[in-house]
Amino acid sequence: KTVLVLNGPNLNLLGTREPAVYGSQTLGDVEALSEAACKAHGLKLDFRQSNHEGVMIDAIQEAGRAQAAGTLIGVVLNAGAYTHTSVALHDAIKGSGVTLIELHISNVHAREAFRHHSYISPVAKAVMAGFGVKGYALAIGALAEITKPA
Ligand code: DQA
Repeated sequence: KTVLVLNGPNLNLLGTREPAVYGSQTLGDVEALSEAACKAHGLKLDFRQSNHEGVMIDAIQEAGRAQAAGTLIGVVLNAGAYTHTSVALHDAIKGSGVTLIELHISNVHAREAFRHHSYISPVAKAVMAGFGVKGYALAIGALAEITKPA
C-alpha cells in the first residue's frame, strides 16, 4: 500500500528558504527520508509538491479514491501557507474521506499569530508540528501504526 506525502507552496525552496526556521535539508532530502520511513513499514511512497492549490485538491481527491480502493493508507500533508487560508483544501479533505496527518516542519504555535489557525486541523486525523524534517518520518510511522489492522 501507498502513502501520499503532499507538500504545498514554497516547500520546493527547502534548504535555502529561512534555514533558521526550516533547516538546511532540501525537499530531495525529505523525499529520501520519507522513502526510508515507508520502506521500514513495508509501504510505497508517492511524494509530491505543488505551489498550486487546485493541483493539491486534485491530489487529495485522488488519494481519497485510492484509499477507498484499498491501495493507499493515507496522506501526510504539509499544506504550507494554505494551511492558514484554504477552505477549499479543508473541503477536499472532508469530502474525500481520506485519513490525513497534518504536518509542519516548524512549531507553528510558537510563531506569528496568523500561523496559529489551521483550516486543516479540524479535518485531520492528527497534527504534527515542530519536529523539523524528521517529522515526515515520524508522521509516516504514525500513519502506518494507526492504520494497521488490529
Ligand atoms: C509550514 C508552516 C507554515 O506556516 C508555512 O507557511 C510553511 C511551512 C511548516 O512546515 O512549518 O510554508 O507548514
